Amino acid sequence: MAELYKNYIDGRWVEAKSGGTFENRNPADRHELIGLFPASGAEDVDSAVRAAEKAFPKWRLVPAPKRGEMLYRVGELLREHKEEIARAMTREMGKILKETRGDVQEGIDTAFYSGGEGRRLFGETTPSELPDKFAMSVRVPVGVCGLITPWNFPLAIPTWKLFPALLCGNTVVLKPAEDTPHTAVKLFEILEEAGVPPGVVNLVHGAGEEAGAPLVRHRDVRLISFTGSTAVGREIAALCGRDLKRVSLEMGGKNAQIVMEDADLGLALDGALWGAFGTTGQRCTATSRLILHREIKKEFTEMLVERAEKIKIGDGLDETVEMGPLINEAARQKVHRYVQVGKEEGARLLIGGAIYEEGKWIHGYFYRPTMFDQVSPGMRIAQEEIFGPVLCIIEVASFEEAIEALNNSSYGLSSSIYTRDVNRAFRALREIEAGITYVNGPTIGAEVHLPFGGVKETGNGHREAGTTVYDIFSEWKSVYVDYSGKLQKAQIDNVE
Ligand code: UN1
Repeated sequence: MAELYKNYIDGRWVEAKSGGTFENRNPADRHELIGLFPASGAEDVDSAVRAAEKAFPKWRLVPAPKRGEMLYRVGELLREHKEEIARAMTREMGKILKETRGDVQEGIDTAFYSGGEGRRLFGETTPSELPDKFAMSVRVPVGVCGLITPWNFPLAIPTWKLFPALLCGNTVVLKPAEDTPHTAVKLFEILEEAGVPPGVVNLVHGAGEEAGAPLVRHRDVRLISFTGSTAVGREIAALCGRDLKRVSLEMGGKNAQIVMEDADLGLALDGALWGAFGTTGQRCTATSRLILHREIKKEFTEMLVERAEKIKIGDGLDETVEMGPLINEAARQKVHRYVQVGKEEGARLLIGGAIYEEGKWIHGYFYRPTMFDQVSPGMRIAQEEIFGPVLCIIEVASFEEAIEALNNSSYGLSSSIYTRDVNRAFRALREIEAGITYVNGPTIGAEVHLPFGGVKETGNGHREAGTTVYDIFSEWKSVYVDYSGKLQKAQIDNVE
C-alpha cells in the first residue's frame, strides 16, 4: 500500500475534502511510487485561507525578533534533517544528491538570514518639515499570503517566500508543485516541530487549476507570490490585477554565457557545463545560450563536446551520477519537440537530441545532453525557454555583437561573461539587460542575501531574497507624530 500524505491546515494533517488523491512517482523510475497526496480543490483552499485569517491577528502582534527566533529553530531542524530531505527530494525530483543538498542548504541559509532580519526590519526616520513633529516609516504585514511554487527547487523556493512572509507577520497558504509534494510535507513537519502556531502556515497540495487557481482567486488572500512559467504568471497577474491583489512573479529565463576571445577557456568550460547541464537544465537560471567569440569558437566547442559526451546520466541517488532525469514525460516531450524545431530552423545538432534509454534507465525520463551549433539569436530555440539539457551556440565577432545577442531576448534573469579584460567586464555589467550578471562565473549560483529576479518578461519588478524580499511581504506605513499641540498644515504653514 502506498503511503498516504496529507494537507496541513490549522495545525492538523488532513485529507482533501473530496477524498481524492494523486500519485507522486520517481522520475528516474516511473514504476516507483513515492506516495499518494491529496488532490485538493477550492473547498480545501478555503479552509486553509480561513485558518490563516484566524491566526493572523495574533501572529502579527508577535514581536518580529521572536518570529525570527522561530525561524532560527526551523533552520536548526532543517540542518538536522538535511540529508534525509535531500534524499527524498532526489527521489521525487530527480536532480543529483549534491544539488538537492544544495537546495536544502539554500533553505537553511534563508532561515538564518530571515531570522536575523527579525532584529532589523528597518524603516526610516526623517525630519519633518514642520517644527515639533516626528516622522518615520514602519513595515506592517500584508495579511494572508498565497504562495505557489515550482518543482525545480522544491525546498529553496518555498522557503524564499515562506520565511520572509512569516518574519513580516503574515500568515500563509502554500500550494507546492504537484511533482514535488513530498519535500513540502517534510518542510511542514519541521515547521510543526519548531512550534509555528496552528493556522500560521498551511499546506494545500494539488494541481494548478484545481488548487492554485482558487488560491489566486480567493478574495481574502491579500498577496500572491508565484514562481513558474511566464504563461501561468501572466494569467495570475491578470487575475490579481482585476482584484487589485499584490502579486510578485518570478518566471522564465533564457540565460546566456558570453565567452570572449581573451577568456580563461578552462574556467569558461567548467562554467558552461555546470550552467547548462546542472539540474538537467531545469533551472530558471540555467545557461541555455552560449555566445562564443569566433576566435575561440572552434576550440571551445570541441572542448565542450568532449566533456558533455562524458556526462554520466542516471539516478541522482547514485553519488557518481552527474545528471539526473527530466521531471516528467511531458517535460521530456517538450524538450524533444524543441530539438525538432532547432533542426527545422537550420541549427546544427552537435550532440544529443535524443532520449536516453540505456539499460535500466528505460523507465525514467532521461534525455541526452544536447548542443546545437550555428544558432542565430532570433531562432525559436534561442528565444523560447526549453527547460532541459539543451545548449545553443551563437557565434559573434565582437564584444558589441555579443552584448546585442545576449540582450536579444524577451527574458532577463541571469547572464554571464568570461573575459580577463576588466574594462570589458564593467561595460558588460552596465549594458547587459538582466537581473543578475556574473563575471567569470556561470549563470547559476545565486546567494540568498542578494536580490533575486529578472527584468522584461522574467518578472514584474520584484526581487526575492536579499533585503528586497521584505518589500514584497510588507506594506509601508508612514507615521507622523505632531507634538506641537496645534494644527500644523504641511505645504502651507511653513511656506514663506
Ligand atoms: C531557479 O532556478 O528557479 O542561482 C532558482 C541558482 C539557484 C536558484 C535557482 N541558487 O541557480
